[in-house]
Parts: sequence; C-alpha cells; structure tokens
Amino acid sequence: MRTIVRGGTVVTAAEEVVADVLVDGERVVGVVSPGAVPFVADTEIDATGRLVVPGGVDAHTHMEMPFGGTFSADTFETGTRAAAWGGTTTIIDFPIQSRGGSLREGLDAWHAKAAGKCAIDYGFHMILADVDDSSLKEMEALVGEGVTSFKLFMAYPGVFYSDDGRILRAMQKAAETGGLIMMHAENGIAIDVLVEQALARGQTDPRYHGDVRHALLEAEATHRAIQLSRVAGAPLYVVHLSARQALDQVAAAREAGDNVFAETCPQYLFLSTDDLARPGFEGAKYVCSTPLRPAEHQAALWRGLRNDDLSVISTDHCPFCFKGQKEMGLGDFSKIPNGMPGVETRMDLLHQGVVEGRISRRRWIELACATPARMFGLHPRKGTIAPGSDADIVVYDPTAQQTHSAATHHMAVDYSAYEGRTTTGRVDTVLSRGRVIVDRGEYLGSAGHGSFLARDTCGYLR
Ligand code: URP
Ligand code: ZN
Ligand code: ZN
Repeated sequence: MRTIVRGGTVVTAAEEVVADVLVDGERVVGVVSPGAVPFVADTEIDATGRLVVPGGVDAHTHMEMPFGGTFSADTFETGTRAAAWGGTTTIIDFPIQSRGGSLREGLDAWHAKAAGKCAIDYGFHMILADVDDSSLKEMEALVGEGVTSFKLFMAYPGVFYSDDGRILRAMQKAAETGGLIMMHAENGIAIDVLVEQALARGQTDPRYHGDVRHALLEAEATHRAIQLSRVAGAPLYVVHLSARQALDQVAAAREAGDNVFAETCPQYLFLSTDDLARPGFEGAKYVCSTPLRPAEHQAALWRGLRNDDLSVISTDHCPFCFKGQKEMGLGDFSKIPNGMPGVETRMDLLHQGVVEGRISRRRWIELACATPARMFGLHPRKGTIAPGSDADIVVYDPTAQQTHSAATHHMAVDYSAYEGRTTTGRVDTVLSRGRVIVDRGEYLGSAGHGSFLARDTCGYLR
C-alpha cells in the first residue's frame, strides 16, 4: 500500500517545509518538494493548507489502572481510540508491580490487557511499588526487553510510596543498566499529615486537595530526588511537574549540567485551583496529583517549555467518571480517585499555545512528538517524519475551531475538563504505520492494529 500526502506544510522539530510525504507500507520513504518525484500511490491525501505533523507521542497514560479503590475508566481499546482521534499515535503506559509481587507479574498483566486491543502503538514503563533485591534484579531483564524506564513514588504512603533508601537503590540499578527513573515528586509523608489535619478541621471539599499537596512539598521532593540521583550517578525524569518552585529545582540542576529532565501536562497550563474550587462537588473533576496550582504558576511553566527546562508534554491520562467514581470522595476529598482525562486533547491544547504565541509550531512538535520519542528510546521510529520513520502522520487543520465537550469526545469518561472551551486547530486525518485510522471525522482504525514497542534506552544519554 503506497500513500502520498500532498502539498502540506510538513512540521517537524527541526523544520517547516511545504512537501509531499511518500509512504510505502508502514514507513515514510520520502519527504520531497511538491510534485518533484513521480510516485504511484494507492491513496492520495490532499494536505494543501494543512500542517503535516508526526503522530503524537504521549509518554504518560494510565489505561485500566487500579487506583483509589476503582479503575481508570478508559480501557486500552477506548483510550487508544480516543488518542487516535486527538492525533496521538503512540502511548507509553504504566504496568504496576503490586506489593509483594514481581515486576514480571505486573508486566505480564499489562501485556494481557493491551494485546489485541490497541488502535495505535504502545510501550510500557514499569511502576516499582516494592523495591527489594529481587525487583532490582528484574530491572535489568526488563531493560533488555524494551521496558527501559521505571516510575517511583515519593507520594502515596502505603500504596506506591518508596522511601529514600529504596529510591537510592533503584537509581543505582538504573545507572548500572541504562534505565531511566521517572519520579512522582511529592512529599507524601508530610502530605498525609496535612490531609489528616484538614479533615479533622472539617475541610472535606475537593479544593482542600490542592491546599494539602503544597507546592513546597513538590519542590522539596523534587530537590531530594535530584540529590539522590546525583549520589547514584543516575539520570532523572520528573513526571507531571506543576509547581514553579519544583521547576526552579529542575532548572538549577540542568544549569549545573545534570541529566535531569521534566514533563508537565496540559491541565497545569490551562486549569488552576479555581477549577478545584468550583461550587458543589464539581471540583472533584479536577483532582489529580500533583495538583492543579494557582494560575500564576502557568507563566513559569510556559517559560520552562520555551527554554527546555520542561522538555516533554504528556497527559498523565487517568480518567475517572464523575458519577460513581469521583463521587467516592463526597464528604472526604482524600477519597476522590486522583486523575484526569486528557489523552485526546493534548495535541490541540498545546497547539492552542502556538495560537496564543506562547511556543512556536516546531516547539509544539518537539514537546509533543520528537522529544518524548527520543527520551524514551523510540527515535527515529517515532516522533518525526523522515525516510525510514514509521508513517505515523497527522494532517492538521491549524485554523479550524472546536469546542470541547464530553458530548463529542471519545474518551470513556462522563465529563470534559475543558467543557465549553473553544480552541483553534483540529485533527483532519491520522495515519498509524501507513494506515489511515481517522479520516475527517470518520474512525477507520481497529483494535489490535497497534503493537507493542520494545524501546531502546533514553536517547539523550547515549
Ligand atoms: O492524579 C494522578 N496523577 N493519577 C495517576 C497516578 C499518578 O500519580 O500518575
Ligand atoms: Zn504520579
Ligand atoms: Zn501518572
């Protein structure tokens, strides 16, 4: 099957050029001046007046995740389909090691959930919930089979939490094996004290979730994670960074030349504690950790995205329905399942940053496609449009307006965090490995088209 995407403006992290993109089978075989190369194609896609960009790489999702006494609402089937609608053609999800269980058991369970279900390609990071001699030993085997990054939690005592000694040992192992430690950096021990005190004062509404998860406790944990990674001689990737004080810690480490990287997520750029404080129980829709911050943090995050102290935009997609799931925390904010939907809206929201002049188009692609691919060992296969790369291609209309709503989105969750908000830019057509899976409002994909990606180690460290 040969396809030509004709006459669009091809945007990669490196350049913008009007070109034809030639696809043979699953791969890009050429990016050439319009009409320059005779190419007999089975399918022609007219991209005149459109952007032609690499499929998005969302390096942080949680499909069917058991958490907070329930499961995140998207399955691999519904979540990857929604991702495709939003122009994302690769996700990296998080298998969980259960306490007392092995990494292998956790990984096998995730393979079983995802195999044959995904509309787009997928990889895995591994959540370490129980760092001991045997799980440390297993890390090496996982790196060998393409699970090259490991998430640790300084938050959630009694659930995923690791103490500093365990974190240090995992970092040492990562340094030895080429793995990358991803850190949920919040001081969970101190947060739990503040939770107890708030509840004792009768402060039970969702907005108190933001108060007890203090920005300084994100900054403190980020600082500690950086110091531990220095001691271990290991690189560090800080996930879902939301506080400007935490960003200051990352910026200082990068200035000092350390291999410290960080991501933020659209919710921290477009939403704030004002949303957590919505009347009634509405704020529960906005409960995630790290929490939304006061709006003044947003300018610092956009600056970080421009100057590369923040290198990646992921979603931390972890949707829970308002009815029946978020409602588990009625009368006690600490029982609201933590997480928000977002896998479908990431490319559009970040494009809105382009429209508003906060970042350039090339930076949009760098943050959402190229850098996550390189960071997590998928470059040059993913994240770019170049001869030899997978033909994961999005034809994007940069001028179309859309109004976000749960009534029209494809995620299996009963609310949109951006209900009624209008943004400029919309996906027209999506190709995953050469196959058209979304075509101007029509879904043509199928469960099982997506395959598991065995990833290389971090491309910034090789
Ligand atoms: O609130 C969040 N972020 N839920 C998902 C789990 C995590 O910590 O990433
Ligand atoms: Zn986390
Ligand atoms: Zn997460």
